[in-house]
Amino acid sequence: METNLKGRSLLTLKDFTPAEIRQFLDTAFQFKKNRKAGATNYHHQGKTIAMLFEKTSTRTRCAFAIGARHLGMHAEFLGKDDIQLGKKESVEDTAKVLGRMFDGIEFRGFSQKTVEDLAKYSGVPVWNGLTDLYHPTQALADFMTIEENLGYLKGAKLAYVGDGRNNVANSLMIASALMGLDFRIGTAESLFPDPALVEEAKALAAKYDTGATITITTDPNAAVRGADFIYTDVWVSMGEEDKFAERISLLKPYQVNRNLVAETGNPEIKFLHCLPAFHDSETVFGKQVLEQFGLEEMEITDEVFRSPHSKVFDEAENRIYTIEAVMALTL
Ligand code: CP
Ligand code: NVA
Repeated sequence: METNLKGRSLLTLKDFTPAEIRQFLDTAFQFKKNRKAGATNYHHQGKTIAMLFEKTSTRTRCAFAIGARHLGMHAEFLGKDDIQLGKKESVEDTAKVLGRMFDGIEFRGFSQKTVEDLAKYSGVPVWNGLTDLYHPTQALADFMTIEENLGYLKGAKLAYVGDGRNNVANSLMIASALMGLDFRIGTAESLFPDPALVEEAKALAAKYDTGATITITTDPNAAVRGADFIYTDVWVSMGEEDKFAERISLLKPYQVNRNLVAETGNPEIKFLHCLPAFHDSETVFGKQVLEQFGLEEMEITDEVFRSPHSKVFDEAENRIYTIEAVMALTL
């Protein structure tokens, strides 16, 4: 598969033009169609990719493994306790070794600098499977899901409520700027996104004349008014587990519940969540946390999460096709 994206790494969506994001999405839609029709896309038969995970994952890991298989490739999982990285070997040396062995590298972990250094030293395409700063492949699946439902992206009203400065919020803001959305964040003032990143996103919207607007507000009702989609994510991300008490007290007014949904005034409102979600106490960890703070749900109520307006499992499935598209086009 010869493309103009060949050899590129996906470290942050900031590095891509609206036309390139369009290419990722169009390819993802094609791959989804092919899959439903039982067709295969062995564009990269015989190639191999490494999947590096410092943090846990269900969707991202599976989507890379399945996407690789769909393209005719082998994917090798390298968990944090499996390899020398971070203990006996530097990022630079690991990158140089993996670059000699594999055709592409996925990385999930803490530092954005690690994924940048892997790209710098490996000489092969590197894909960011989530860092503390960005989650670009998630935003691609989210936008595919929005487009699947609305039929368009430009002008779509996307309201993100919750932790406004996490990896998911940051990537949604950049993607919205590039694709011309009306993007709002509703969150506590201390959880506003980095002002420098907001300025960068606005500058991208202006550079490509996408018509995107970005609004950051402490008023959850104002954030969701007239929205097409409400998006939320966990209040405490991986690596921040000591912050539950603080986040719960800050973010309680931003819970996606029946009252907030009514504020949209949109009977067709839809919901997204990158998952995993604290919408009930069905997990041991969730139960412990919720009981400790006397809550039954956290960022989204069970009722909203399970409603027919919730598109979270389509969104999870779309991780496959978007990640497959990223690999297909950059390898
Ligand atoms: N949404 C997402 O990235 O899920 P995982 O953490 O399970 O990969
Ligand atoms: N913000 C979350 C996303 C999980 C997919 C985290 O980093 O844990």
